Amino acid sequence: MVTLSWMLLLCVLAEGYGSEVGVQEGCGRWMGGVPGTPGLDGQDGRDGREGRQGETGDTGLPGVRGERGEVGEVGGDGVQGRRGFPGAPGLQGQRGESSFLYRSAFSVGLTTPTTTTDAPLHFTKIFYNEQHHYDDISGKFRCFIPGVYYFTFHLTVQGQGCKVGLYRNGRVMSLTLDQFLTSDLDQSSGGAVLNLSSGDQVWLQVYGAEQEEIGIYADINNDSTFTGFLIQPRLPSSPLDNRRR
Ligand SMILES: *[C@@H]1O[C@H](CO)[C@@H](O)[C@H](O)[C@H]1NC(C)=O
Ligand SMILES: *[C@@H]1O[C@H](CO)[C@@H](O)[C@H](O)[C@H]1NC(C)=O
Repeated sequence: MVTLSWMLLLCVLAEGYGSEVGVQEGCGRWMGGVPGTPGLDGQDGRDGREGRQGETGDTGLPGVRGERGEVGEVGGDGVQGRRGFPGAPGLQGQRGESSFLYRSAFSVGLTTPTTTTDAPLHFTKIFYNEQHHYDDISGKFRCFIPGVYYFTFHLTVQGQGCKVGLYRNGRVMSLTLDQFLTSDLDQSSGGAVLNLSSGDQVWLQVYGAEQEEIGIYADINNDSTFTGFLIQPRLPSSPLDNRRR
């Protein structure tokens, strides 16, 4: 049946396209024959087209670890950190030197009236001269500890006037004048703070060699005194000096 239908279709197609030769004749006489036997199986067809791509397979296992790379270059400086907390207090310092090393003081007086004009007043009555910085031979104070000193004097004046200078290395630092004329006794005083260097000398002396009125007096009941002492030493190691800078 299938083959017969194919034959019919072929005849129709052949006529439709105007094909001549035996085909038209064959078709005109088909009704006269008997159906033929079925043909042999045809040859295998050609391979079909490639199929569509399949789905992606599962991920494989990781590969073997590679070799270690070279060390990179040093990076730049980081940002400065914040200020730290204050440290703990330091240990207690060692005991300092005794201030006794820096002591210098004297207090002396006259024992007799004096008329000396060309030399220091010679105080021989010693109230205090522990360090012997006052020289009772020359009558001069000699500075051994550089620093600031205070000097003061109180002179008893009798009968005449007097003019006394506080000397430092031959220069008058301070002058005291007493112009006593009428009464019997008077006093003349003075003082100064001096910044001395080691070796400086300080003394009292009548001012003016030609001065006639010289009435510096002293006896057992009436003193004429000369006093000096160190206020503040000036030493390289002095903490007071360091603080001042
Ligand atoms: C005292 O004198 C010294 C040296 O002449 C000087 O260095 C120092 O500053 C002076 N001190 C004062 C308090 O005047
Ligand atoms: C010295 O002082 C005493 C007592 O204050 C006094 O009696 C005497 O007259 C004084 N000396 C002179 C010379 O005035």
